[in-house]
Amino acid sequence: MEKIIDEKKQGTALVLEEKKNNTRKLFIESYGCQMNFSDSEIVASILADQGFNTTQNLEDADLVLVNTCSIRDKAEQTVRKRLEKYNAVRKINPKMKIGVLGCMAERLKSKFLEEEKMVDLVVGPDAYKDLPNLLEEVDAGRNAVNVILSKEETYGDIAPVRLQSNGVSAFVSITRGCDNMCTFCVVPFTRGRERSREPQSILEEIDDLVAKNFKEITLLGQNVDSYLWYGGGLKKDFEKASDFEKATAVDFAQLLNTVATKHPKTRIRFTTSNPQDMTLDVVKVVAANANICNYIHLPIQSGSDRILKEMNRLHTRQEYMDLIDNIKELIPDCAISQDIISGFPTETELDHQDTLSLMEYVKYEYGYMFTYSERPGTMAARKLKDDVPEDIKKRRLAEIHTLQRVHSHYRHKAYLGKTIEILIEKTSKKSDQQWSGRNPQNIMAVFPKEHYKVGDFVNVRIEDCTSATLLGTAVGYSENN
Ligand code: SAH
Ligand code: F3S
Repeated sequence: MEKIIDEKKQGTALVLEEKKNNTRKLFIESYGCQMNFSDSEIVASILADQGFNTTQNLEDADLVLVNTCSIRDKAEQTVRKRLEKYNAVRKINPKMKIGVLGCMAERLKSKFLEEEKMVDLVVGPDAYKDLPNLLEEVDAGRNAVNVILSKEETYGDIAPVRLQSNGVSAFVSITRGCDNMCTFCVVPFTRGRERSREPQSILEEIDDLVAKNFKEITLLGQNVDSYLWYGGGLKKDFEKASDFEKATAVDFAQLLNTVATKHPKTRIRFTTSNPQDMTLDVVKVVAANANICNYIHLPIQSGSDRILKEMNRLHTRQEYMDLIDNIKELIPDCAISQDIISGFPTETELDHQDTLSLMEYVKYEYGYMFTYSERPGTMAARKLKDDVPEDIKKRRLAEIHTLQRVHSHYRHKAYLGKTIEILIEKTSKKSDQQWSGRNPQNIMAVFPKEHYKVGDFVNVRIEDCTSATLLGTAVGYSENN
């Protein structure tokens, strides 16, 4: 789903506030997308009621859980290495139990158990509420697996604990699963069919976050534009809904508008948008609400019509460009970021040039770019030979990266001399004398700390920039503060 979390954060053990009477220790790590990080917070919340406090010390853990990603082969290899590490530690701490959560659990199911006692527990993304029962099995010395995908589960009734949060920005899941069936993508198989969460439970979670002083909320889904609440059930069954359910249904534009108007001082973001599902209504809601950030992550994958068709992306290059034009007309300062895959099967040099020329047209602020990785069971794996040699995939990716850096720098230079609003998130990685935070367009800025603190909205005058960061000086609090 959406953006992959900063590589440096991947795998960091997540820790929450201790519950006094809890005696067992949980070590939980997450890989992959923001939805996984968000799911781990739900899991930690469920396990806090089962007597578990989280720990950052693998050696001390009674239970080790790894929330996994299957999106590319490399993501799965990383998890396998972690499992080897856990098993090495288990030799000195034999009471330790090991469990696999998330997309790899769903994809490989009980195969994990067959792999030389690597794991005791395998739990798919829709089965976390079954964890208390599964743990009983494991405590009794048996292996436990639940990888049943659900039509209903949205975890709307679980208040996630905020693990390792900066206390400023939080993610709130609004949909689960994906019905799009892009031919390269494993997500529809691992996360099941699309379903939306009840608006009331979303609003309550956000109310709670705002009350706890969070300043920025990101609405999260594999395909947020496809959000549709009509009383529960799968998106694909909407046609069968009653007239009343259809008349009172809530779509993404309405949900976004409700959230934004209810909390005018909170920054609202959303991810990920699929171009084929994004409506002009959503763009208009972003334009109409000052607190919805002018930033849209809009994956394109390829600039070639032929490849888009092979990928089952249900829009053309021209339709995508028209959408970009509409966004820029309604929201002139809207930043756009992309996902691009290089070396999809049958991709020619001309197709690759089409991707580069599309990038040239949009001049994205930012991008998430990867070489194609064949995923077992997907339509592309079944129907198309992975025929672009690895060195060519990599060379094309390098060209895409280089062009993206040029465009990021170009976009960042437009901020020179301007004063922009930054929400302070943390100390800069490069200097403990500097804060770092993002502007509404999601561009990172760093500036001297002075008397400001984490969570402040400040106006920062931009004096310099790189292709990654804006550099400046704070000139005062913004009116949002
Ligand atoms: N709906 C989610 C997509 C999740 S996957 C979203 O739009 O965020 C995130 C990105 O990973 C995709 O947009 C795609 O660019 C990339 N990706 C997915 N499957 C891939 C594969 N088999 N090989 C390489 N990259 C892939
Ligand atoms: Fe994957 Fe396409 Fe859905 S990339 S998550 S199948 S929108």
